[in-house]
Formats: sequence, structure tokens, C-alpha cells
Amino acid sequence: MLFKKEILSLLACTAGALGAHIRNRDATSVFLLAGDSTTAKQTDGGGGWGEGFKNFTISSPSFAVNYGHNGATTSSFISGGDWETVLSEASRHSSSKTVYVTIQHQFGHNDQKLSNFVETYKSNLRRMISDVKANDAIPIIVTSISRRKYRSNGTINDNLETWAGYAISVANEGETMYIDLWKNSVKYLEKIGETAARKLDLKSGDATHLNGNGSIVFGRMVMDLLCEKSAAIRAVAKQDEKLSGNIEAGTPSF
Ligand SMILES: *[C@@H]1O[C@H](CO)[C@@H](O)[C@H](O)[C@H]1NC(C)=O
Ligand SMILES: *[C@@H]1O[C@H](CO)[C@@H](O)[C@H](O)[C@H]1NC(C)=O
Ligand SMILES: *[C@@H]1O[C@H](CO)[C@@H](O)[C@H](O)[C@H]1NC(C)=O
Repeated sequence: MLFKKEILSLLACTAGALGAHIRNRDATSVFLLAGDSTTAKQTDGGGGWGEGFKNFTISSPSFAVNYGHNGATTSSFISGGDWETVLSEASRHSSSKTVYVTIQHQFGHNDQKLSNFVETYKSNLRRMISDVKANDAIPIIVTSISRRKYRSNGTINDNLETWAGYAISVANEGETMYIDLWKNSVKYLEKIGETAARKLDLKSGDATHLNGNGSIVFGRMVMDLLCEKSAAIRAVAKQDEKLSGNIEAGTPSF
């Protein structure tokens, strides 16, 4: 019988033989979620998809940490110290675990207030991607979740598509993994319709933030989109065929 230390040294030898750049990582993945109130945990001031993702879509011992910060822009997330925290956690885990950092902000609300916001937004995203890579972790760009505002003909009225496009263009510059949460959330919301969508609002009159059920639905949507892009993520995901089936079919779950 091999003891843990022996297994580790065996792994170390194998890795050494394969090349010094191969690390002795275990099978655990860590997801660090960077974003604003549309990623953040459910409170009076915000609520996003992060908690549903964290609580229900990942197989233990893999895990997620939600760094969503209400009101954050890409700039304030960096200057206010959140980004430093995310990077130090990435660095702390990346020698032994696979670390993913998701980067999502609903920039329609927040970054649009910055001066020269398009260029600022893009250059902040480029910087975040390279910072994550420099800490031996994997960046994932997530486009903004759609607001749940409907036109009278039932289509979604949300102007964040341009921002989703900026985010995807930056991801494509460096072959960074991305998921288009904007497009997929619009598609789902148009299928379930406004009555069902209102049940996912944090509170009455808030078409931006999600309650717990909304977090479960969109957290699952994020994980399903990640699984489509990455077999490694699929291997650490916890599946929920019923909810995923509802999302795929455009059927309400709550
Ligand atoms: C709904 O209304 C919008 C805005 O008037 C229009 O652009 C869109 O084509 C309409 N879609 C459908 C399916 O009627
Ligand atoms: C997720 O789990 C945390 C901690 O148990 C809990 O406070 C929160 O309400 C949960 N949120 C959702 C959406 O499941
Ligand atoms: C979430 O859905 C469950 C089941 O439909 C329901 O009982 C509960 O009230 C919902 N929570 C919220 C905050 O709407």
C-alpha cells in the first residue's frame, strides 16, 4: 500500500520525467469568480449567478469562491483591491490545483460611467487576462448576463450586446476561453417569457439582480456553457439534467 507521501513523490518523479513545466496538480479545480453585483451573492444591494454556480454545479473537492462586488467596474475592481485578492488566491492554489478565473461584469451599468470607457474596458480585460495567466491560472471571459427587460412583443430590450462583443473580441485576441452568457441569457429569457422571468428578480422592480432561484438557473447556464467549451471543466462539474434540459428547452424551472 502506498502512503500519500509516496504517491506524491511518485507523481513528482513522473512529472519530472515528462518535463519540468508539468506541475504536480491534484484533480481539484478552483473557480474564482470576479465580477460585479450580477455575479455577487444575494444581498439587498445585489445578487448574481455566482452563488447558484458555487453551491450546485461543482463536484467536491473542487470549489468556487465568489468575489462579485456590488457596483464594481473593471477599473474599481482592480484599483479597490479585489483583483489583488483574486490573484493572490489564484497564485496560492495554482501550484497544486487547476485554477480558473471567470471575469464578468455587467458593464452597461457600471463601466459606461468611466471616461473613454470602451478603451478602458478593453485594456482592463487584457490586463486581467494576462495577470491570470501570469499566476498560472486560466482566465475565462464571461459576457454580461442580460437584464430582464421585455418589449411589448416579448423580445428582450437590453443594450449590453455591444459590450458582449467587446469582451469576445478581447478574448479572441489572445485565444482566451470565453462563454457568451449574454446571448444565451437573452435566448432563454425570450423563451420563458416575462411572467416566468419576474420570478427570478431579486425583488419587485429589479430586472437586473437575481434572487436565489435566479442564481440557480443562471449559475447552471454558466456551468453548462463552460462544459461545452472544456472537457476538463466537465470532469469536475456536478450535473443537473432536469435543470439543464429546462434551460436548453427554454422552459421555466421556478
Ligand atoms: C419586436 O420589437 C422590436 C422593437 O420594435 C423589433 O426590433 C423586433 O423585430 C420585434 N420582434 C418580433 C419578433 O416581433
Ligand atoms: C449558497 O450557499 C450559501 C452558503 O451556504 C448560502 O448562504 C446561499 O444562500 C446559497 N445561495 C444559493 C443561491 O443557493
Ligand atoms: C424559489 O422557488 C421555490 C419553488 O418554486 C419557491 O417555493 C420559492 O418561493 C422561490 N424563491 C423565491 C425567492 O422566489
